[in-house]
Amino acid sequence: MEFEDSNLNALGLYVAESLNKYGILYCHMIEPRMKIVGEKFECINKLLPMRKAFRSTFISAGGYDREYGIRAVAENRIDLVVYGQLFLANLDLPRRFELNAPLNMYNSETIANPDPVVGYSDYPFLEETNA
Ligand SMILES: Cc1cc2nc3c(=O)[nH]c(=O)nc-3n(C[C@H](O)[C@H](O)[C@H](O)COP(=O)(O)O)c2cc1C
Repeated sequence: MEFEDSNLNALGLYVAESLNKYGILYCHMIEPRMKIVGEKFECINKLLPMRKAFRSTFISAGGYDREYGIRAVAENRIDLVVYGQLFLANLDLPRRFELNAPLNMYNSETIANPDPVVGYSDYPFLEETNA
């Protein structure tokens, strides 16, 4: 389900500030998709005000890859990165990130597939050779 609001940034900021008084452990928001800016693939950082307003662990998803995830955490823009579609297509994602190995690209057409296998558990695992 997707939601719309006339001022999503103000609403997000209000929610992040309001959650502080409840001692919530973490806040997870989805970054608007990363965009091509000029020739670069960049995250547009719309969640930064909410990250600053929320006083506990801030988690975000939204088109991150390995490099941008590392950078977002290193630059303190978020505490933890969530990988959705990439994890779906790479069930061994932590290992692939550890090795900086190539990733399977997800198939957008099978992401919301009712089939329990197709698009969920039929992506190939990394073949590691014992060097
Ligand atoms: C299997 C799967 C199901 C999803 N279902 C929904 C959904 O029902 N509603 C929604 O707003 N987003 C849904 N999403 C999108 C995620 O909430 C999120 O926007 C997205 O995964 C962002 O991270 P990513 O780019 O790392 O995948 C889904 C994502 C995946 C991988």
